[in-house]
Amino acid sequence: MNTFSLRNALATVSVASALMLGAPVVMADSHGAAECGKTELSSQMKEMKKHLKGYKQASKSDDWAVMSEHRAELQRLTIAGQSEVPYKAHDKSDAEKQAMTEKYKQGMEKLESLLNQLAEAEAAKDSDQVEQLMKQVGAQSKKGHKAFKLKCDKD
Ligand code: HEM
Repeated sequence: MNTFSLRNALATVSVASALMLGAPVVMADSHGAAECGKTELSSQMKEMKKHLKGYKQASKSDDWAVMSEHRAELQRLTIAGQSEVPYKAHDKSDAEKQAMTEKYKQGMEKLESLLNQLAEAEAAKDSDQVEQLMKQVGAQSKKGHKAFKLKCDKD
């Protein structure tokens, strides 16, 4: 082996070790490990907050068409969120993770049911019922956050 090819061989080895050292980080990413507050669920929840605000705003002026658009987005996001795992469960044992994820899913299904009822109240243009259901949506959100939302350190 001349000096040139030895240098090449050494370079190849060091690139390989660099890749191996970086490997765990890459693997963690590809397995969906995320930081607190930076999960797919966080993004979906932030979107939900916007639509809830839009809904409340539109309901003040009985703008049923705009209310319906926001409610449909809330329904879509609620269904999408049901297949996520709360970040709070990420370092739990498999059994605890499964139990927490199941409870979380039930909480999101309850929200879905409230939103379906909201759609019916809109169809009937029943403002009192809308107001009543919105209170329940707020309570369900509060309950869900108390049980499943981990407070991030930076909060
Ligand atoms: C319309 C109702 C709801 C709204 C507007 C809402 C809104 C939010 C917001 C703004 C965040 C913080 C996102 C961030 O900045 O990172 C959040 C996080 C979270 N919410 Fe909700 N939420 C609602 C209902 C629920 C329900 C019913 C549950 C559970 C059954 C739930 C579970 C969570 C969890 C677990 C997180 C933390 C994200 C994570 O673990 O990755 N939310 N939500």
